[in-house]
Amino acid sequence: MIAAARMPWPEAVTVCEVGPRDGFQMEHAFIPTEVKVRLINALSRTGLREIQATSFVHPKAIPQLRDAEEVMARIDRAPGVVYSALVPNERGAERAVAARVDRIDIVVSASDSHSLSNANMTTDEAMARAGRVAALGREAGTDVTIGFATALGCPFEGFLPYARVEALVARAVEECGLARVGIADTVGMANPALVRTTMEALRRRFPAAGFSLHLHNTRGMGLANLLAGCDAGIAHFDASVAGLGGCPYAPGATGNIATEDAVHMLEEMGIATRIRLDALLEVARQVQEAVGHAESAVLRAGTSRMLLGARRDGQTKLGAS
Ligand code: COA
Ligand code: ZN
Repeated sequence: MIAAARMPWPEAVTVCEVGPRDGFQMEHAFIPTEVKVRLINALSRTGLREIQATSFVHPKAIPQLRDAEEVMARIDRAPGVVYSALVPNERGAERAVAARVDRIDIVVSASDSHSLSNANMTTDEAMARAGRVAALGREAGTDVTIGFATALGCPFEGFLPYARVEALVARAVEECGLARVGIADTVGMANPALVRTTMEALRRRFPAAGFSLHLHNTRGMGLANLLAGCDAGIAHFDASVAGLGGCPYAPGATGNIATEDAVHMLEEMGIATRIRLDALLEVARQVQEAVGHAESAVLRAGTSRMLLGARRDGQTKLGAS
């Protein structure tokens, strides 16, 4: 085996599973609450330490997640797992606190056009609300993070100037006192060069902040973008089981990077995730069954190790090509 050159990658990364929110929100047919609860409970047993379980948004905006309170009340809270929920405003934060979420994930669209379409407010108004949500979280003793949708590409405005993203992060970190900031490629427009330069610059400018990346695989660049994030020293990524996901308010958005594809790649590279891939693949199959579609590369092809095992057992004849 060829020894890999030492790259500046993190030794371990945390993967936040966002399928129950980002994934389910895109499903037209209502997923019964008990199915959501069963799948979240199954995800809790894979070694995942963070699960974004639902969102507290207007039920008319996302009818699929109108059962947010019930989901939070019915899931088993596995020890060591952080159950978070997305919120867009104070009302959502109050509901989330009442539902005893472990963490509130505020989302703000970095571009005004997407913000108006997604949340009926400008980015500036959304930031003012984020400040109030951060205060509300502090009062309630609930952790709060912020994520910037469209920060790496907006379907209406294209690529935003880096200075705009940096100014938003400055407001979040320095004015709102938020320590963890997500940078999102909501519609899969980003490329590895953009991810790397953006994340390196943000880390240089805000050395005390913890950054995470939320990547969609719409144009097949998801895992390359994840690796570019690792190159920039990012050790926190969102991903979605069975590659579910999208944004109903962003034309052309499709699924997140599949959690099992991300875990497979990272573990093969020697970057620890602490997630058991076999257990995760089993949940991915259950998700596939529950929604009637969705797939990922590893679900389709199996893991590299399965293939090697099968070859040793003489079960697989690899083609000559
Ligand atoms: N949960 C439930 N109800 C909410 C709410 C929330 N988070 N926020 C506002 N409301 C209610 C208000 O109480 C008010 O109710 P009333 O008419 O009975 O008094 C009503 O909604 C209108 O409030 P307003 O502040 O004017 O909200 P809006 O209509 O401008 O909608 C959002 C703003 C942000 C709530 C809505 O656009 C939304 O939920 N967007 C989220 C979209 C999303 O999740 N996208 C995918 C993830 S990025
Ligand atoms: Zn998303």
